[in-house]
Amino acid sequence: MAEEIVPISVLVQEARDVFRNEFQEEPDIAVFAPGRVNLIGEHTDYNDGFVMPMALPLVTVIVGKKIEGDESIIFTTNTGVDTSQRATIEMPNKNALIRAITPGGPKWSMYVKGVIANYIGDIPPAFKAVVHSSVPTGGGLSSSASIEVATYIFLDELTGPNSIMPTDKALACQKAEHDYAGMPCGIMDQFISLMGKKNHALLIDCRNLTSSLIPLSDSNIVVLITNSNVKHELTGSEYPTRRKQCQQAALIMKKVSLRDATLEDVNYLKSINADEDIVKRARHVITEIQRTSEAAQALKQMNFRRFGQLMVESHQSLRDDYDVSCPELDALVEAALEVEGVLGSRMTGGGFGGCTVSLVYAHVIDKVIGNIKKKYKGSPTFYICTPSDGAGKINE
Ligand code: ADP
Ligand code: GAL
Repeated sequence: MAEEIVPISVLVQEARDVFRNEFQEEPDIAVFAPGRVNLIGEHTDYNDGFVMPMALPLVTVIVGKKIEGDESIIFTTNTGVDTSQRATIEMPNKNALIRAITPGGPKWSMYVKGVIANYIGDIPPAFKAVVHSSVPTGGGLSSSASIEVATYIFLDELTGPNSIMPTDKALACQKAEHDYAGMPCGIMDQFISLMGKKNHALLIDCRNLTSSLIPLSDSNIVVLITNSNVKHELTGSEYPTRRKQCQQAALIMKKVSLRDATLEDVNYLKSINADEDIVKRARHVITEIQRTSEAAQALKQMNFRRFGQLMVESHQSLRDDYDVSCPELDALVEAALEVEGVLGSRMTGGGFGGCTVSLVYAHVIDKVIGNIKKKYKGSPTFYICTPSDGAGKINE
């Protein structure tokens, strides 16, 4: 009933076949980078807070090879992307003082261009490549971060060994998304795509970019992702608005970021009659940072029941205070929670559509999927996922 998770080795074979078809030769590099699901800590990364995602077995693979000249050619197998599946990229001029790539071409290629332009180190040589992914596009599981990070790792393979820290690679990919895709995202998605580890969730402190792995591999517990398969247009415009509201709240409270604020500061906002939206946004972020720390403790103690409660509270706060849920996500959470043995359920990612994540006892998984299918008016898809490894080279 859940979607089949295609093994990375199969994706690589498929990508190689496409490469052969497109370019009539063999690729000699293969890399992958995973999508992610965030277990708790939503809209906290750009407030210097905590997040706790895990890397998914759903990944973006890039196969390719170095070529002569200064024009790269990249082909995506994703038929759902805008205009053309093939893009050519004029590589940055080695003598230019500012490394930049002319925008333009299909929108999807901007993620690749952004990473080339922000790559730390020598300008990479031109290449031919095929992108092939099992991460659903635009579903809130970070297909965009996975194409960015896969591109970064691919460029690493083209240019040779370096000592750049994974956190710096994540920052370069984040900058690519800001400057080339126009999305002012936080650091979570790129960070977990690089640093995820099999059988572990990752608690990330987005203030100083440190992280700690927390085991998540109890065979009685399952992470169920449900894709609502809706994406409301608000996603693009509301995200930067939320960021600004958080900055404003912090400024009024005389804090660098909401990480330093407490519920007492929220009372102060109320006492000076601050805009109600500002009060609500601040309250969500402050309580969500607290919930995420508590959830990390609960997970360390394998207290899944407490973890689940915190997930439910997180959803309520995102729905009522942060106003980023939507009827479809609320309906999915409600249908999941109706089933006994579901420990927690919440929207995950930016909101306004995309996915929910639920923590479920393994023995009730079929019942949960059945109930959601019965109650949800749309057509959901399901992924049962175990925490997986972050990006890397594929040796064959
Ligand atoms: P998500 O939550 O999946 O990251 P976004 O809307 O932020 O959703 O990013 C999706 C965009 O990323 C796509 O519209 C496309 O431009 C790009 N993208 C993701 N995966 C691929 C792929 N395999 N091939 C080409 N472009 C991709
Ligand atoms: C994502 C964004 C992340 C994070 C998340 C909300 O779309 O890329 O950085 O802010 O929304 O938690």
